[in-house]
Amino acid sequence: MSSPFPALSRRRFLGGAAAISAGALLPSRVRAEAGASFTLVPGPANVQLVGKSYPKTAVWAYNGAIPGPELRVKQGERLRVVVENGLAEATTVHWHGIRLPNAMDGVPELTQPPIAPGESFTYDFVAPDAGTYWYHPHLNSREQVARGLAGPLIVEEAEPIAVDREELWVLDDWRLTQEAAVAEDFDRFHDLSHAGRIGNTVTLNGFIPEAWPVRAGERVRLRLLNVSNARGFALVFDGHAPVVIAVDGQPCTPYEAPGGRVELAPAARVDLAVDLSGKPGERFTLRDDYYRDFAYRLLDIAYDAVPPLRESPLDASVRLPANSLPEPDLSEAARHEVVLAGGAMGGMRAAILDGQELPIRELAARGKVWAINGVASGRYAPEPLFRFERGRTQVITMRNETAFEHPMHLHGHHVRLLSRNGAPLGEPVWHDTVPVAPDEMVEVAFVADNPGQWMFHCHVLEHQAAGMMAVVEVA
Ligand code: C2O
Ligand code: CU
Repeated sequence: MSSPFPALSRRRFLGGAAAISAGALLPSRVRAEAGASFTLVPGPANVQLVGKSYPKTAVWAYNGAIPGPELRVKQGERLRVVVENGLAEATTVHWHGIRLPNAMDGVPELTQPPIAPGESFTYDFVAPDAGTYWYHPHLNSREQVARGLAGPLIVEEAEPIAVDREELWVLDDWRLTQEAAVAEDFDRFHDLSHAGRIGNTVTLNGFIPEAWPVRAGERVRLRLLNVSNARGFALVFDGHAPVVIAVDGQPCTPYEAPGGRVELAPAARVDLAVDLSGKPGERFTLRDDYYRDFAYRLLDIAYDAVPPLRESPLDASVRLPANSLPEPDLSEAARHEVVLAGGAMGGMRAAILDGQELPIRELAARGKVWAINGVASGRYAPEPLFRFERGRTQVITMRNETAFEHPMHLHGHHVRLLSRNGAPLGEPVWHDTVPVAPDEMVEVAFVADNPGQWMFHCHVLEHQAAGMMAVVEVA
């Protein structure tokens, strides 16, 4: 369903002449120098987010860059990331989608103390799976991420597929004022209780994109990453047939995106193999129609005039080597039910907050409007929602009894999406964040093989803050 939110005012910020060059589409990339050691400094920065006719935007950024620097390692390589907090408030860094040891997961209070201003914390872990991942704060996330803190983490396959080039698109959504400043209404009740903080300006790698320069005949691996607080994307590649090769980092059997349309809920990643099958000099539109009534042109696919790189598509497989995730065994599974409730038009009457059952009015007064199995997340880590026996297959049925979509994220694991509304899906694809539509029921399965206490929450960051968050334990 589409809910009321400010329409995208992209035109306003384009200022008529803000087209950016091809080079500017590339995010900054940091190559590990000694082994895989990086330093990330979250802190205030000023960036030219929108057209030059507007002032720079004061943001919070990693190493001054929007998006944060692209960290790249090889599969199985050990990363060491020193985070030096340059913010005036505490933070942590969560490595979204990485199956890492619990102590490195970046969840304040649960897995580590918050990193105070001026202090540092060293994350040190092995990246077991190749794929497209990302990092972001897990403290006051709805504000820290909205202000710009997010960056990509790419884990390279030992033997990547053959493509002519690779690109990474970090899609973000901003709520800006007329002066291009980040609107500071992070506590807006309407956002908490409806679809989250949906903004008015979409950026690609930190800019408003105008055109994607391509060459006829080339094959591009496109890594898509949605770091928005709440906005979903559905990119429609007119005139092209993008092939999905990985979802949330994990390879899948390659398939053509139906209608050339690729959906990305908040926090989702999709890797595509795109054959640029147009002719020299042609232009195509790349639209985003996730909110059907608010579709807009994201950019043009702009073909250079030079002759095609080749006459017929590259004759090479786009199937990525699978990562070695443990395969769920449904015959031995423990089964669990999750009910997502609350929000505007959701009809929830009461929920438990910090051990006390409160009517919705009381909850709302405390900024809580959502619940998982009748419990709204409070200030401190609650009792685990589930205790999973280590090494055993778990099947979770999630039922969305609200009027809004919830991309549900489980830390430390990937889950196979088995069915939607009882209808089995052809190939159960791995996800770390599973979008669950209003009134929908989904079923996922995974082996709980990673010991520790893990967050399980909605990745609409306003929903997470307003109660839709829980802890599960693997022991
Ligand atoms: Cu992307 Cu709990 O986070
Ligand atoms: Cu949600």
